[in-house]
Amino acid sequence: MYRIPELKKCSPGIPLPASTSTLLSGILEYKVTRKFSYQISLLILQPLYPVMEETNYINDLKLGKLPTHVAIIMDGNGRWARKHGRPRVFGHKNGVQAVREVSEAAAEIGIKYLTLYAFSTENWSRPPREVSALMGLLVETIHREMNTLNNNDIRLRAIGELQKLPPKTYEALLEGIDKTKDNKRMDLVLALNYSSRWEITECVRTISELVRLNKIKPTDISESMISDYLATHFMPDPEFLIRTSGEKRLSNFLLWQSAYTEFYFCNKMWPEFKKEDFFQAIQEFQNRERRFGKTSDQLL
Ligand code: FPP
Repeated sequence: MYRIPELKKCSPGIPLPASTSTLLSGILEYKVTRKFSYQISLLILQPLYPVMEETNYINDLKLGKLPTHVAIIMDGNGRWARKHGRPRVFGHKNGVQAVREVSEAAAEIGIKYLTLYAFSTENWSRPPREVSALMGLLVETIHREMNTLNNNDIRLRAIGELQKLPPKTYEALLEGIDKTKDNKRMDLVLALNYSSRWEITECVRTISELVRLNKIKPTDISESMISDYLATHFMPDPEFLIRTSGEKRLSNFLLWQSAYTEFYFCNKMWPEFKKEDFFQAIQEFQNRERRFGKTSDQLL
């Protein structure tokens, strides 16, 4: 059964051991003459390049400066499929592999919450065949990945108007949530039949009802009370939000929660988004200055 490597024990800010590339090139350099070592290492190391690239990005991360919560708008499945001359569902199927890669990558470095926008309230207006294929894919993926989630101590959660999902999807989701509820390493949160405006409307309804019943006064309403009545009440706001496919908008996702979120837009389509892309994005987050309304000088 697949286990995600543990990296969390590395001290914050201390670089990880030398990357695979440096190590292997070093050995080759030692064993053969300087003249041929470069060509030989090129030949032998070529199949290892993706792993080496990934290792390099991990090495460059400051593990003490990670976001606690990363949110992702997984966009571009349809366009990716079209580019390959295939139906849109082919893109979604390949998107599942990216979900796996990025979940592994996030758990590997110690991200505590990973929220994925998997199906928005507006996505119901897609062709019925695509909607039903997406719902089927969710059921299949939850069943297939259950053991991996448990073996890696990852808790499945969901936000959105879940009761309105097709019964089979809803049941698979509840089962996945229940069977992983004791896991502690990372929460993998699927936003399903979710939209921020739905969530904020629900929150306003609940709080108004509390006022009507005289349980609270309007002056009791605070920002933290609103956060407590949103679907995301169990996790901190995301410090970092990634959107793939070159689109630069939030599409009704975590509007309240992203007041101070750092945004990262990349041109890769979601099925092309790999571990190293995730690490590269996190690296960029680590180089951003988060001022929260203050000046740079005040942060020193
Ligand atoms: C956006 O691409 C993608 C979606 C609306 C669905 C995302 C679903 C998956 C990645 C598969 C299932 C997920 C899980 C968590 C198992 P798009 O179709 O809007 O692409 P386009 O903009 O190119 O048309």
